[in-house]
Amino acid sequence: MEIIRTVDELRRRVADAKAQGRTVGLVPTMGALHAGHVSLIEKARGDNDIVVVSVFVNPTQFNNPEDLKTYPRTEEADVEKLIAAGADFAFIPSVEEVYPEPDTRIFDLGPVAEVMEGAMRPGHFNGVAQIVSKLFDMVRPTRAYFGEKDFQQIAVIRRMVEIEGFDLEIVACPIKRETDGLAMSSRNVRLTPEQRLIAPAIHRTLEGSLSWSADHTVEQTKRYVIDELNSLPQLEVEYYEIVDGKTMQPISDWAETTEPVGCVTVYCGNVRLIDNIKYPVRR
Ligand code: PAF
Repeated sequence: MEIIRTVDELRRRVADAKAQGRTVGLVPTMGALHAGHVSLIEKARGDNDIVVVSVFVNPTQFNNPEDLKTYPRTEEADVEKLIAAGADFAFIPSVEEVYPEPDTRIFDLGPVAEVMEGAMRPGHFNGVAQIVSKLFDMVRPTRAYFGEKDFQQIAVIRRMVEIEGFDLEIVACPIKRETDGLAMSSRNVRLTPEQRLIAPAIHRTLEGSLSWSADHTVEQTKRYVIDELNSLPQLEVEYYEIVDGKTMQPISDWAETTEPVGCVTVYCGNVRLIDNIKYPVRR
C-alpha cells in the first residue's frame, strides 16, 4: 500500500489506474479506523480493481471546536489496518493541502439536510458536502462506500452527487456492531468503562421498539424509545425521529412510507452517539 499526501499525486496515480481500464473504489474516512471501516474497505476491495481510502479529519464539518480538537487521531494504527484490509492507496493529506484557501461553497442540499443532524449541527452537512465533493473530484471513483450508521449523511451525499452531477455509484453498507450491539464508532473510545457498559442499551432499545411498533403508532413508538433511553443513567436523547428512508422527512403514520427508519442521537455522558433501525413496511 502507498501513502499519498498530495492532491496532485493522488490525481496522477488514480488517472494511471483508470487509463488501464481499472475500476476505482473510494472509502472516505476521518481515521481512527475500526472494524466498521474495515468492512467498507473489504466491500470496496471485492467490487473494484483499485481501492483508495482517504484519512482526513475534515475541519469544515465540525460545528463544535472542542469536538474537532478531541477527535481521535491515530495515523500509525490506521495505516496498519489499511494494509491488512487490502487498500492500495491511503490518501492522508494535511488541512492546507485540502483547503489551500477557505472553501466558501454553500450547497443547496434541501430538506434531507434540514432535519435531525442538520438541525442539531448547523453547517455540518455543508462541510461534509465540501469534503466529499472534493474527494470525488480528485478521485473520480467508480464507486464510493459509506456506512449506514450515518444514515442521513448518505442521503445528503446522494443529493450532493445529484447537484454536482458526479457519475458514480454510492454504496451504502450495513452498520457494524460490537458483540453487545453498540454501533461501532470512532467516538466509542471516549466512553468511560461505566458508560461503555450502558451504551449498548441504545441498540437494545431500538430493537425492542420493533415489536412495540407492531401495535403502536409512530408517535407512541417514538415516546417508547425516548422514555426508555432517558430512564437510564448517563443517557440523554437529543432526538429520536422516525423518517422516510429516502427523504429523511419525519412520518406520522406507518403507511406514509415504504422505508420507515428510526434515527436517534443520544448523549452518553458527554459523548454524542448515533444509531438507527429499519422498521417493517406497513402499507
Ligand atoms: O463519515 C465520516 O467519517 C465523514 O463524515 C466523511 C464522510 C469521511 C467526510 O469527512
